[in-house]
Amino acid sequence: MSSEDSTKKTLAALGVTQPEQIAHLFAGVRARFEFDSAGAHNEAGWKLFRDAWLGRKSGVLAQITDNWLKPATPELKRAVGASLNELRAHVESHIEARRAAIESGAEEAALAKERIDLSLPGVIRPIGSHHLIRQVFQEIEDIFLSIGFSVVEGPEIETPYYNFEALNIPEFHPVRDDMDTFYIELPKGAPTPLLLRTHTSPMQIRTMEKQKPPVRVIVPGKVYRRDNPDATHSFMFHQVEGLAVDTDITFCDFTGTIEYFVKQFFGPSVKTRFRPSYFPFTEPSVEFDVSCPFCGGTGSSASGATCSKCKGAAWIELFGAGMVDPAVYGFVSYDAKRVSGFAFGIGIDRLAMLKYGIDDIQVFFQNDLRFLKQFP
Ligand code: FA5
Repeated sequence: MSSEDSTKKTLAALGVTQPEQIAHLFAGVRARFEFDSAGAHNEAGWKLFRDAWLGRKSGVLAQITDNWLKPATPELKRAVGASLNELRAHVESHIEARRAAIESGAEEAALAKERIDLSLPGVIRPIGSHHLIRQVFQEIEDIFLSIGFSVVEGPEIETPYYNFEALNIPEFHPVRDDMDTFYIELPKGAPTPLLLRTHTSPMQIRTMEKQKPPVRVIVPGKVYRRDNPDATHSFMFHQVEGLAVDTDITFCDFTGTIEYFVKQFFGPSVKTRFRPSYFPFTEPSVEFDVSCPFCGGTGSSASGATCSKCKGAAWIELFGAGMVDPAVYGFVSYDAKRVSGFAFGIGIDRLAMLKYGIDDIQVFFQNDLRFLKQFP
């Protein structure tokens, strides 16, 4: 702008000698001011703009005072003074208006940043689902609750008394080898060794200690064994224990209850059978089998090949059970002559594998979402 340097020179140096020339001179300064003003968009720009015009030493107004007003001849001084006052009023009010505009603009921008747009879709956080094992627990609980059983839970850390002795498994009984487990390291002089329970059967004892017959409970929970992991073995797995004791429970009640459960769980078309077995705490003891749900109990697949699940046997072993051995009643002060009952212990992981066609128990514990999401 032509007026840029003009304020650094005196009127004499600019060749201004007549009051009429003053208006033109100030018009140039005003134009320069409007130009500078348009460039001040933000707080930092505004500060530079303000200092350039109102700075006490080198601001444009100070320059005009020093270079034009002070050395002006008496006949020019009035005109310069009047124009300078006008200019100052304009500059000051305009700079203040600019500050307010920038400030409110910044506020608006900040508000816009914080504003919540309710029309936008929300952040959808995926909701987890129950693990398949928990779902199977639930299915089993529902079936047994519907026929008068209640659900109880017990400690995972047990004493050998509850895990073995009170279940008629004395020390050095060979069945303990099948249930090799994890013992807890205890300080010397601890009153009893402690172990991670190998089955849910200790809860038979704890329940009967607490309550008189009739007893009808199921016990879902975790159990532990020193088994090497493979497709059907895990060192931690899940069981549901069942126990019914009353004055008139027969083998018929036992088979009827188990068959009812299996048909509810697998569907009415599965067939069931008992085979003799052995558990120290049931007498007689049985293994309970179902007709293979994969090949429909034929032993061969649709293509005629041997069924890969039951290996052609047409039956799949489900769980152990039996009538409670009278010796067990002796540990809980029940009168073995008056009461009778049955018990069963279902391996839940293998039951779930069977029902849902899973061929490796390890997938239950790997927490792979691709597996878990198949069972929402
Ligand atoms: C018992 O544990 C008895 N307490 C069951 C019982 C209860 C019998 C009441 C009579 C009366 P067993 O050791 O067979 O039985 O185990 C029961 C089930 O647990 C097996 O059928 C199997 O499904 C499951 N199981 C056993 N070991 C493992 C393992 N390492 N990994 C996964 N499942 C297992």
